[in-house]
Amino acid sequence: MRFDPVDRLAGELVSPPDKSISHRAAIVGAMSDGRVRVRGYLRSADTSATLEAVAALGARLVDAQPRGAGLDLELAGAGLRGADPGAAAIDVGNAGTLIRLLPGWLAGQPAGRWALQGDDSIARRPVDRVVHPLRRMGATIDCREGGLPPVVVEGSDLHGIEYELPVASAQVKSCVLLAGLLADGETTVVEPLATRDHTEIMLQSAGVSVRRSDGRVTVGPARRLELGEVDVPGDFSSAAFFIAASTLVPGSEVRLCGVGVNPTRTGFLGVLERMGGDVEVEQRAVAGGEPAADLVVRSARLRGTEVDPGEVPLAIDELPLVALLGAFAEGTTIVRGAEELRRKESDRVMTVVEGLRGLGARIEAAPDGFVVAGEGELHGGRIDARGDHRIAMLGAVAGIASREGVEVDGFEAAAVSYPTFADDLRGLVTP
Ligand code: S3P
Repeated sequence: MRFDPVDRLAGELVSPPDKSISHRAAIVGAMSDGRVRVRGYLRSADTSATLEAVAALGARLVDAQPRGAGLDLELAGAGLRGADPGAAAIDVGNAGTLIRLLPGWLAGQPAGRWALQGDDSIARRPVDRVVHPLRRMGATIDCREGGLPPVVVEGSDLHGIEYELPVASAQVKSCVLLAGLLADGETTVVEPLATRDHTEIMLQSAGVSVRRSDGRVTVGPARRLELGEVDVPGDFSSAAFFIAASTLVPGSEVRLCGVGVNPTRTGFLGVLERMGGDVEVEQRAVAGGEPAADLVVRSARLRGTEVDPGEVPLAIDELPLVALLGAFAEGTTIVRGAEELRRKESDRVMTVVEGLRGLGARIEAAPDGFVVAGEGELHGGRIDARGDHRIAMLGAVAGIASREGVEVDGFEAAAVSYPTFADDLRGLVTP
């Protein structure tokens, strides 16, 4: 799909619902007793895979009504120990969150054996990061050589552990916490750096006592979960593409409505502020423990910045956009300490560096990030999404802000998290 330069962006956009929170609502909902209502479950390829997985595992979809980019769902949970042992094979599609969180629930079931597998991208993403801690808890779980999917997990008796995360990963933290609900004794996860805390917030609203202090999260065995209701705020990571686009296209002013602004997700705002960006955060509201706000973004001239390692997990999915902003900035932009980028839906150090270089950016790869020499503009050209939704949308934003426009090969990958992205972007283009 082609994205040509535009004069300016203006207007309002309601962000599609949060992907991370939607995955968790389906999984924690499936683990719950009784009815669960999810207001605004994201409609996307990734979150459909999660709904199908929990339905195969015994959760019942009672009702689903479209609302904007989301669905209002009513689920009947399978219960904490009620996963269907007959669902032998689970297809996670492209969803890393699903293949990393689900084993936490399944490992502690009274019976059953499940194999979790996904698409070609999933087949290259490490899952030993959840196999290791779950084995320490007593789980019967294995993966392919090299630490890759499929994950094969059997229901076993689990015991609580204290686990220090070797990499800052919310997915691994969440997996261990879910298993901790089914284990004997307490389970503590120690985080080297803060990561998104949606699981902790949702477990609390499902009635679990979650103790948190100084990078430690502790849960004990639970008898039952009762999630009841979840309001899913807009996805900050989806909104970030419009934050970047409105910043880069001169004369723009865009209001992004109902965006989740949990501080464990909004590291990009701090980075952009240092670069000279202009984002106002208005009308804060809290729904189910998750803060949401309107973001008013105006175009700005940018300068280079250095991303601090502590900011990396708080902006992990937005770092490709930091590279793009860096290309338009004056001076140098440096991202280091982000080797995790190499383990996302694509090797995002490689796909960002090669992709933006092909559009005229001066960008060099590092083992754990990249360095961009800002030129104040981008020529344009052709970029391959390489099956990665965030690279597809990066190409689109690059295109509308570039001099010559950008052809994005494989743009359809955007449907993994944001099926209506291209229409939403066009809706903001103003003569
Ligand atoms: C996610 C956590 C992050 C993020 C991913 C979604 C989640 O991954 O990159 O897009 O929903 O927990 P890690 O926890 O592996 O860093």
